[in-house]
Amino acid sequence: MNLLSQLSTSFSRLFHTAPLLICSPGRVNLIGEHTDYNQGFVLPAAIDKAIYLAVGLRTDDELHFFAHDLDETFVGSLNNLSPTTTWADYLLGVLAQFRLAGHTLKGINCVFGGTIPMGSGLSSSAALENGVGYAVNELLDLGLDRISLVRLSQRAENEFVGAKVGIMDMFASMMGKADHVIKLDCRSLEYAYAPLKMDGISIVLCDSRVKHALVNSEYNTRRAECEAGVRFLQVFYPTINSLRDVTMPMLEQHLRDTEPLIYRRCAYVVQENQRLIDGVAALEKNDVAAFGQLMYGSHEGLSHQYEVSCPELDILVDIARQQPGVLGARMMGGGFGGCTINLIQEAELDHFSRAITGEYKAQTGKDTYLHTCKIQDGTGTVTMAVS
Ligand code: GLA
Repeated sequence: MNLLSQLSTSFSRLFHTAPLLICSPGRVNLIGEHTDYNQGFVLPAAIDKAIYLAVGLRTDDELHFFAHDLDETFVGSLNNLSPTTTWADYLLGVLAQFRLAGHTLKGINCVFGGTIPMGSGLSSSAALENGVGYAVNELLDLGLDRISLVRLSQRAENEFVGAKVGIMDMFASMMGKADHVIKLDCRSLEYAYAPLKMDGISIVLCDSRVKHALVNSEYNTRRAECEAGVRFLQVFYPTINSLRDVTMPMLEQHLRDTEPLIYRRCAYVVQENQRLIDGVAALEKNDVAAFGQLMYGSHEGLSHQYEVSCPELDILVDIARQQPGVLGARMMGGGFGGCTINLIQEAELDHFSRAITGEYKAQTGKDTYLHTCKIQDGTGTVTMAVS
């Protein structure tokens, strides 16, 4: 039985009704890392690894959640929407945000599970939040549009779960479109879909299988360093609001000599935005090789200027760039572990897989898992025929 059938069957057995079935995907980001919370650009897409949810309304105020993959149950009430520091917070946080926005809720039954590898930086939490938000909006006929649901998921993550993440993950999961990447301006939320015409090239993720403890504290530190850079520059340029308004000459003139660390962080962000703009132009010309070079540049910046990589991710990128048929590789997401994203000619996939598995093991003693991704539509309802 496939996962969706299992979730649906389990829901009917537990709650004696038929559920609404939702698929809410994880995401990749081709380029534009640590730019979202700096009001910059990102280039993500929703992927064919997803959280699936079976959801229904109750007639009382109770909340009954079942995490299929963990075999864990949560029972609570709409009258007590406070954080538990468990997975239930991703669901409770979304409900709390509907409440704060003035919507009247009903009790919820939810069974969910997924195919997004956990802890790999593919945004399983954003997918879950979006899935719950989408389901509640449908079941209660609240009429929120997708962008409002994206913002609601982000507030749930920022304010309820307590992770100060940007908007990219929720946006990509909710707004994804099959075979397209999303060029998102995180300042205006203007976005455009660009067809991903990469004939004969696969997007392959290599999971470092590490997640260093640094990830949350360093993420917040990087945000603070970028904000400090903006504050320093506001003395000279009172109208700037974020690194989006900043140029390399401004940084060189005012920060390079006096604040070398802040300079490095800010320079990375300014240059990464430019790499993204150049990357989109390269994709428009079908120049995947040029795009791949920009990915290597992004990794260099993340590793040496922004310092959010780790030895395992650097090793994965180093091994990848030595293999035939690899057009580009870089770490993806917050950093300090998770996956690298690689563009690889399909004819070389078998060789790549053998080489990177063997070399990574030899250099780190660890196994890497490879995932080939297809680009898919964002969060939505599904029927039993789809798994
Ligand atoms: C994490 C966050 C995103 C984004 C990336 C870095 O995935 O959730 O908002 O900041 O890191 O690009």
